Amino acid sequence: MKDIVIIGAGGFGREVQWLIERINKRSKTWNLLGYIDDNVEIGTIINGYEVLGDIKFLRKYNKKINVVCAIGVPEIRGKIIEKLYSLENVSYPNLIDPSVEMSNHIDMGEGNIICAGSILTVNIKIGDFNIINLDCTIGHDDIIESFVTIYPSVNISGNVIIGAKTEVGTGSKIIQNKVVGSDIIIGANSTVAKSIKSAGTYVGTPAKRINKR
Ligand SMILES: CC(C)(COP(=O)(O)OP(=O)(O)OC[C@H]1O[C@@H](n2cnc3c(N)ncnc32)[C@H](O)[C@@H]1OP(=O)(O)O)[C@@H](O)C(=O)NCCC(=O)NCCS
Repeated sequence: MKDIVIIGAGGFGREVQWLIERINKRSKTWNLLGYIDDNVEIGTIINGYEVLGDIKFLRKYNKKINVVCAIGVPEIRGKIIEKLYSLENVSYPNLIDPSVEMSNHIDMGEGNIICAGSILTVNIKIGDFNIINLDCTIGHDDIIESFVTIYPSVNISGNVIIGAKTEVGTGSKIIQNKVVGSDIIIGANSTVAKSIKSAGTYVGTPAKRINKR
């Protein structure tokens, strides 16, 4: 079993603990050491696992260790990974729930989290440190760059590109052949019917901009 820690002891962190437990139930893979979180007191027990400290814990750890960053907000996730990336003992596995359906024709980087019930079809490119939450569908030829967060029950049709650090709100849909640029927030339950280039927050059906970021 390989040592792993979860960064972020919030709600999503606890869901990632469950994901790890589900992987282990199928095949004993991960030895979960606990959580890394600078907002929770060291030693606090969360669903049976200890908060080990902040990222200094990883700097001091002198053995190989795997890290999963369970922070939903792309910008914060990016900053944390930036701080850790030079540590040679740290690896970033892709954690994929055993229930996820995906073809063999998917290119994936590192540090991605794909939650229960999602379906990814064919010829899809997924960069690094993305979160695809529960019950999403990702269609043929989609490109998801890096540090993208896709919240639960999102449907992305074929030939869609989603730029870095974009968030797609729960229940949203993106119509085929559209490009959603970087640093964009799509509100919950929205429909992207035209490509979106400029950073900002977009809501509704069809999705319209409500503010600058
Ligand atoms: C879009 C979003 C980011 C906006 O948040 P915000 O910047 O704090 O904006 P506000 O809540 O102040 O709302 C601004 C306006 O947009 C409207 N609005 C907000 N979200 C909306 C949505 N998803 N669809 C339609 N209208 C929405 C608000 O009603 C408000 O309208 P008003 O100006 O007429 O009163 C947020 O509402 C959202 O949908 N986030 C996605 C959350 C999600 O998917 N979470 C999953 C967790 S697992």
